[in-house]
Amino acid sequence: MRAALVVANWKMHGTVVEARALAAQVRDGLKRPRGIEVVLCPPFTALAAVAEALAGSAIGLGAQNCHWETSGAFTGEVSPAMLAEHGCRLVILGHSERRQQFQETDAQINLKVRAAFAHGLTPLLCVGESAQERSQGLTFNIVEGQLRAGLAGLSPEALGRCLVAYEPVWAIGTGVNATPAQASEVHGYLRGLLSELASKEIAQFIRILYGGSVKPENAGALLREPEIDGALVGGASLQAQTFLGIVKKAAFRGGNPKE
Ligand code: 13P
Repeated sequence: MRAALVVANWKMHGTVVEARALAAQVRDGLKRPRGIEVVLCPPFTALAAVAEALAGSAIGLGAQNCHWETSGAFTGEVSPAMLAEHGCRLVILGHSERRQQFQETDAQINLKVRAAFAHGLTPLLCVGESAQERSQGLTFNIVEGQLRAGLAGLSPEALGRCLVAYEPVWAIGTGVNATPAQASEVHGYLRGLLSELASKEIAQFIRILYGGSVKPENAGALLREPEIDGALVGGASLQAQTFLGIVKKAAFRGGNPKE
């Protein structure tokens, strides 16, 4: 079984003081995580403080975006080399908020995925359909297009080191999560595509996370699905107790009959 991974996407929330405190609370609540990996992705300005708070713990550090160039005249951007210098191991790429509000294209996202690898960062590629696309029966077409374009040109070995998140746009920040069956169906489809792009064996190792209104109350049912390898958590990651509640569900997935 693939080890569960829970990633906190704090989005544009938290001053340095708040981020440090939240990271410390998560760290203290997760002394010895078993059967689970946890990564926190604070805003860029809080990376150094969160790195410091997490030093020596098993919790990883990640970022929410990056540019594809290493350096240059790109006002306001942050490069993957800069993230690596801060100790980031992962970078979220192609989040729907970046696609929609900042007009990120699949081609740009592909450049970012490659740049992340070049600097030793694991890309977490996000895909997902809007409510309208789902209602038009286009869910599979949309996620397939985003997955193929985002991962274009990668070797099977590189594909094996990618992370994917299925985040239906209609479930993000709405309180309405995809049902375990809805998410599982899309995850299975994505894994089928990954088998085609890499190989069946490699695709079995790739973790596909679900994101969109994950809370402690629904995490157990979602994460019990064999195709759902973890969660990408927005709003519920901003409180240590709710985030730790989700992490606990992920750690027990498939294992504890009481969960
Ligand atoms: P919410 O958990 O707030 O719905 O956000 C999900 C998300 O966008 C994580 O990247």
